[in-house]
Amino acid sequence: MSKRRTLVSANWKMNGSLDSIRQLVRAISQGMTQETEPEVIICPPSVYISELAEILKKTDIGLGAQNVSHLECGAHTGEVAPTMLKDFACKYVIVGHSERRMFYSENDSRIAEKFVAVQANGMIPILCVGELLEERESDCTKEVISRQLDAVIELAGIMAFKEAIIAYEPVWAIGTGKTAIPEQAQEIHEFIRSRLARHDHEIADGIRILYGGSVKADNAKQLFELADIDGGLIGGASLVADDFLTICHSAR
Ligand code: PGA
Repeated sequence: MSKRRTLVSANWKMNGSLDSIRQLVRAISQGMTQETEPEVIICPPSVYISELAEILKKTDIGLGAQNVSHLECGAHTGEVAPTMLKDFACKYVIVGHSERRMFYSENDSRIAEKFVAVQANGMIPILCVGELLEERESDCTKEVISRQLDAVIELAGIMAFKEAIIAYEPVWAIGTGKTAIPEQAQEIHEFIRSRLARHDHEIADGIRILYGGSVKADNAKQLFELADIDGGLIGGASLVADDFLTICHSAR
């Protein structure tokens, strides 16, 4: 029996306006029912973090960030330091999202540094891992995931995963409408857990592993029911209150 509490995280990416995010968060919080809900968090664009921090104070929804600098402060134009996120009661920070890896050249070692910086500031990293389509097609999925995980284990140590979340996001499924079929997702989630278990069984059993990549209102339940899937990281569908709420309700 799993004792892991399901987590559903909205990743709004670079979408919305002050008006639209206010409306969206109001609709989401009004649609939440207590007790039976999973843990729900929202990761807005960073400029809206202070606004959401105020609004979410009165709700059970937690706050996360989509990215952070690996550095503490200084001459780094455009960057946001971990302490700045902490000032607004951010609890979680996504690190290593495939869009950061692909479009902003973040490599495994930079992502590991971010993971460490997030924890050093008392927040919880959501470490994203996942393979490209060509990597899946050439049967390299497990190799890629192992490399991505090992970089962080090497720098942070396995015990750091006690206060961390992992999100498996096959890159070919993100924003494409192609979801991994439940068997594919479960296989990789189980693999991630076994990779951590090589170092520490308790950590491997306790860690929450989210699935991300075209999770929608009509496929969430099927995915969340699988043994090693402990929730979801939701992009597109988290921008529509009704869809996101249906996803949250399916994670009971
Ligand atoms: P998607 O995005 O749900 O739109 O596929 C998921 C993500 O990138 O976190």
